Amino acid sequence: MVAGSAANGNKNPPTARTFRMKALALTFPLLFPALVSLAAGGQATPPVPDLENGRRLYAACAACHSPGAQPTAGPTLVGVVGRKAGAVPGFRYSRALKNARTTWDSSTLDPFLADPQAALPGNAMPFPGLPDSKERADVIAYLKTLK
Ligand code: HEC
Repeated sequence: MVAGSAANGNKNPPTARTFRMKALALTFPLLFPALVSLAAGGQATPPVPDLENGRRLYAACAACHSPGAQPTAGPTLVGVVGRKAGAVPGFRYSRALKNARTTWDSSTLDPFLADPQAALPGNAMPFPGLPDSKERADVIAYLKTLK
């Protein structure tokens, strides 16, 4: 210890350094979760979708997508999760949707529902989109139950 103190000119006696390490060790666990959620844009743990809220929000879709199997103004969304885009027999899709080589799942529905025209330019769905990612997750969770 004497040699160590002499080498750094006694500016950082081991006791002071130990104290700082302890202070750091104590504050780090407190700060860490906040830092992680900041780095992940507040998405450290994805929120659990609220199915009830998704069902409520679906009212905005039901005007065109009847909850039944029959196409109305829009194609039926029964079984849409896991289905190829533009694949409901008898529904006259736009070329954009018919030619979309995509299968609907959470990762493809999310950008489409956020901004349908940006995600699939030229499609004929007259719906501006759901800007709230939590609302989209809720609606998608509800769509998964339509079988
Ligand atoms: C004003 C009518 C209208 C509303 C409201 C509407 N849609 Fe649509 N939707 C359509 C039409 C029309 C199409 C077919 C578009 C095309 O052919 O380009 C479509 C297509 C879709 C498709 C693609 C289906 C397939 O078979 O590939 C999905 C998914 C979809 N809508 C989901 C939704 C959801 C979820 C909502 C509510 C958040 C919603 N839509 C609201 C009219 C609507």
